[in-house]
Amino acid sequence: MSARLVKDGVYSVGCVDWNARNFHGSTYVTARGVTYNSYLIKDEKITLIDTVHKNFAKEFIENIKEIVDPSKIDVIIINHIEPDHSGAFPEILKLCPNAKIYGTEKAKQGLLKYYGSAGNFIPVKTGQNLNIGKRSLDFIDTAMIHWPDSMFTYSAFDKILFSNDGFGQHYAAAKIFDDEVDFCILMDEAKIYYANILWPFGQIITAKLAAIQKMNLDIELIAPSHGLIWRKHIPEILEKYAYWAANSTQNKAAVIYETMWHSTEAMAKKIVEGIASQGIEAVLFDVTKNARSDIASYILDAKGLVFGSSTHDNYMLPVIDGFLHFFKGLKPKNRKAFAFGSYGWSGESVGNIEEVIASAGIEKTTDGIKVLYAPSKEELDKCFEAGRAFALTIKKE
Ligand code: FEO
Repeated sequence: MSARLVKDGVYSVGCVDWNARNFHGSTYVTARGVTYNSYLIKDEKITLIDTVHKNFAKEFIENIKEIVDPSKIDVIIINHIEPDHSGAFPEILKLCPNAKIYGTEKAKQGLLKYYGSAGNFIPVKTGQNLNIGKRSLDFIDTAMIHWPDSMFTYSAFDKILFSNDGFGQHYAAAKIFDDEVDFCILMDEAKIYYANILWPFGQIITAKLAAIQKMNLDIELIAPSHGLIWRKHIPEILEKYAYWAANSTQNKAAVIYETMWHSTEAMAKKIVEGIASQGIEAVLFDVTKNARSDIASYILDAKGLVFGSSTHDNYMLPVIDGFLHFFKGLKPKNRKAFAFGSYGWSGESVGNIEEVIASAGIEKTTDGIKVLYAPSKEELDKCFEAGRAFALTIKKE
């Protein structure tokens, strides 16, 4: 993808990976690909904001060459060192070795560790700014949104907030603005992104959003380093971030399970039916058939969570075990849950799941349901009833 104009003097010079299907190792399935956004500002000092994944360094440099000779770059701002944004830093630095590099102190440490050099690095923090000609760029520390080194950069002249991972989406597109793509898909991808990248940092995000609001920044564009630039739908995405960051939930439920011989699955289906019988939305997720990242997106705002597993080798099954480990790391709050599962002789899985529910700080609404071998008609009725009662608990508040 060539360089594209964002606003007078500001260009999008990043790259689109239409075929990326995984991100953060295998934790995030990116069904719509990924973009690595970088922005070039043509002012008295030529300024580059972030770089791209190292696999796209060549294309990235070609994009920059469409606008300026890379050797003329005076300033590189590193909003975040994670390799999807800093991977091409060593290559670009070779072309402009005298450029001054700006980022947080943590970013400097990270560049040194990843690449052996941070170049001519000047650490910055909130309240500091940099004059590049007509523009003054303000730095806003956003530590732990989502790495210790993270920051935003704001250009008052352009009214652009360069938000790096904040407000991102993994959405490969030939366009660069939010109003040039399908709004529902965009918001869906923004939600998947939030659930998988930012969910654990809700309290920090709430505080930072409030602090930024107090700064009274005039923002016409939010330019993240993944996906589309927010132009038309800034109020909507800010509202969603405030909602998600507060761990807000809706009266809906997910029944998430892994099964060996379909007994646990039969229980899961009856629980879903029971929940739905009370007018509460309930969705069934077999963890072996759904991407973890998609389940995370659904449960981001789901009040009710029901987890099931057969017992295997005196423990729950391995895929649901991995999912629950991941789930706990998301630091969910304000949820209700219970466990269920089938077994052959020892039946530890339900207790294993309940331990995770307790250690995650989730409210257990009822003792788990265990079924020997295969559920009888009476046991399936009990599962339906458990689902029905769970729905009433969800509705209560
Ligand atoms: Fe897009 Fe934290 O990297």
